[in-house]
Amino acid sequence: MGTPLCDGFGRDVRYLRVSVTDRCDLRCSYCMKEDVTFLPRNQVLSLEELDRLCSAFVTLGVRKLRVTGGEPLVRRNILSFFAAMGAHLRAGRLDELTLTTNGTQLARHAQALAACGVKRVNVSLDTLDAQKYTRLTRLGRIGQVFDGIAAAQAAGLRVKLNAMALKGVNDDEIFALTDWAAGHGCDLTFIELMPMGDIPAGTRLDQFWPLDEVRAHLETRFRLIDSALSTGGPARYVTLAETGQRIGFISPLSHNFCNSCNRVRLTCKGELYTCLGQEGSTDLRPVLRAGIEGAALAREIRAAIARKPAGHAFGYGPCAVAGQMARGMNHTGG
Ligand code: GTP
Ligand code: 5AD
Ligand code: SF4
Repeated sequence: MGTPLCDGFGRDVRYLRVSVTDRCDLRCSYCMKEDVTFLPRNQVLSLEELDRLCSAFVTLGVRKLRVTGGEPLVRRNILSFFAAMGAHLRAGRLDELTLTTNGTQLARHAQALAACGVKRVNVSLDTLDAQKYTRLTRLGRIGQVFDGIAAAQAAGLRVKLNAMALKGVNDDEIFALTDWAAGHGCDLTFIELMPMGDIPAGTRLDQFWPLDEVRAHLETRFRLIDSALSTGGPARYVTLAETGQRIGFISPLSHNFCNSCNRVRLTCKGELYTCLGQEGSTDLRPVLRAGIEGAALAREIRAAIARKPAGHAFGYGPCAVAGQMARGMNHTGG
């Protein structure tokens, strides 16, 4: 393996997030336009190419691999990719293999995911209101997500809910989401809206809700105890003193966590983004398609990681959004 993957600021990179498709069966309004155009298939890496590339990262010392999208479970034969990555787990080369999903296809795949060695899934659920869910996702039916969560738990998977904090959209549901998560044995993480994707900047500003306000709202009912827990991701956790429930906060805007960043992202086209909130990337697809592998591929990856920027460029001012990025979250993979 040689020396671990390390960037120019001394941060070790141990966590790879791979977007296996930009496609999705939903159209969440904060993520994509209703008439979004997806990538032509020939631009997307084959599952065999994704396996080769992700395996190179594992060889270089990545210990946690999260499969994202778009919606990873809409990619045909994606379970064969999980099976290939599961082999790294069994061989002790990976500590965790997991995915972030909208949950709509989870009921069909939960057992097979568990068989590949997945122990935990993060499911996006921003509201518990069936009509609001359909409005927000434009295409979704909330019952499918509930069924997916139940199937995941029946298969022995731990479920974490990811809820975007959206002013004017779900600001009336913080307690409802908290109670639902507790009642269903799920962890819950609130996420701040990042200015990404081809969405009008005004919408971003209107809906951005700093998580300090969510925290303050929770404090009207619970005593929050800061927790040292880390899952290796960006969330900071608290425990609710009254119930023992765990709540996570991902606050890239209001409490930037860039200086402890351990992550890089691979898109389904084979671009390596070393920061979610910066435009720079390294295109590894031509390298891969030229048959470059082993030490030469490792050199390319190390060189890209050495250029990882200090942090993202996002911001919200009183009346403007800074660092708005046209690149969608579905392209880069959350
Ligand atoms: P755990 O393993 O459960 O800790 O998951 P995670 O938080 O690493 O992954 P998840 O896919 O649940 O991430 C939730 C959201 O956090 C993503 O969709 C992003 O919105 C945000 N996020 C994750 N990593 C980063 C990051 O490096 N930078 C920024 N700005 N946001 C991030
Ligand atoms: N800002 C923050 N998180 C986002 N997600 C999608 N778009 C954004 C955004 N603009 C999150 C979803 C989901 C994950 C895949 O990415 O809520 O939890
Ligand atoms: Fe699909 Fe996730 Fe984007 Fe919603 S946030 S449209 S579920 S990729």
